[in-house]
Amino acid sequence: MSVVIETKDLTKTYEAGFFSGQEVHALKNMNLQINTGEIFAYLGPNGSGKTTTIKMMLSLIFPTSGSIEILGRKDIRSSEVKRQIGYLPEGAYYPEFLKGEEVLRFYGQLYGLSGEDLEQRVAKTLDIVSMTYARNRLIRGYSKGMRQRIGLAQALLSDPTILILDEPTTGLDPLARKEMRDILANLRDEGKTLLISSHELQEVELISDRVAIIYRGEMQISGTLTELLTDRDVTIEADSITPAAQAKLEQLNIKAEDITKERSLLHIPSGMSLYDAVEVCKQENINILSVAPRRETLEELFVRTVGDASRAESGKAQPATAAN
Ligand SMILES: Nc1ncnc2c1ncn2[C@@H]1O[C@H](COP(=O)(O)OP(=O)(O)O)[C@@H](O)[C@H]1O
Ligand SMILES: [Mg+2]
Repeated sequence: MSVVIETKDLTKTYEAGFFSGQEVHALKNMNLQINTGEIFAYLGPNGSGKTTTIKMMLSLIFPTSGSIEILGRKDIRSSEVKRQIGYLPEGAYYPEFLKGEEVLRFYGQLYGLSGEDLEQRVAKTLDIVSMTYARNRLIRGYSKGMRQRIGLAQALLSDPTILILDEPTTGLDPLARKEMRDILANLRDEGKTLLISSHELQEVELISDRVAIIYRGEMQISGTLTELLTDRDVTIEADSITPAAQAKLEQLNIKAEDITKERSLLHIPSGMSLYDAVEVCKQENINILSVAPRRETLEELFVRTVGDASRAESGKAQPATAAN
């Protein structure tokens, strides 16, 4: 496995006001490694520095300090490197009065494609994003999901090995998200490397191989989902818990939560025997409906991590405990 994008102590400070001399520390000493053929999720709340990082990778803006290597090269402004990167900007906008295929032809020409090559590439990318059926409709009539898919097709025009997608699923409805997710997973399976930024975690959790969570320009936590989402517990869904059962469970340190009037959910912390809880249900004649292992979700990890970071910052108590 080789490293496709590597940042070392990447730092960006913006001048907030020309006269005020104020500075915004958008990114601080960011170290990232994105490997071949993976979906790398770059996560953080709005204003964390995700777009800033991406723009530096694309040489649209320049680091204050630190460095970036792409495909083993330091000269990331060279056309050889740029040709290998497809980019979908955050909130990409295309003229309403153009047809989908016209947008792609326009961008294809910018990439230096023409004639039959151009037409083939346009057809191919429309096919990848399942937009062939709407290729000669105006953007004006496209849904948000269709616009995003045309944006993705545009990013794919030069058949890049790396795709950098800034908030590709933000604002999409559940069906459009699912479609986008499937397309992105397919691209990964074909061997492309994807860097996806997002502040929406449920989507990302379903497809990403590794994640980095940043907050206020600093790395909080990174790794594979299996490494990060380690807190496992087991839940038992049962008929409503009686007060007697409740008391017994409390003694065992098992939390029972009513999910409806007729249903309860028992949380068995990891390391505790499941049989004790089952025994209580048996003694109290409470019907068990299901027993399921439960892993912490990425969203819970995110809230925990970013919560730690913001508390540490506001309280100035300790540095973020989750940082590593
Ligand atoms: N051109 C700019 N000038 C000054 N500050 C900026 C500029 N671009 C971004 N910022 C600030 O840098 C921080 C990070 O922004 P950004 O990278 O867009 O975050 P994200 O993409 O994670 O939402 C924010 O505080 C933002 O206001
Ligand atoms: Mg952004």
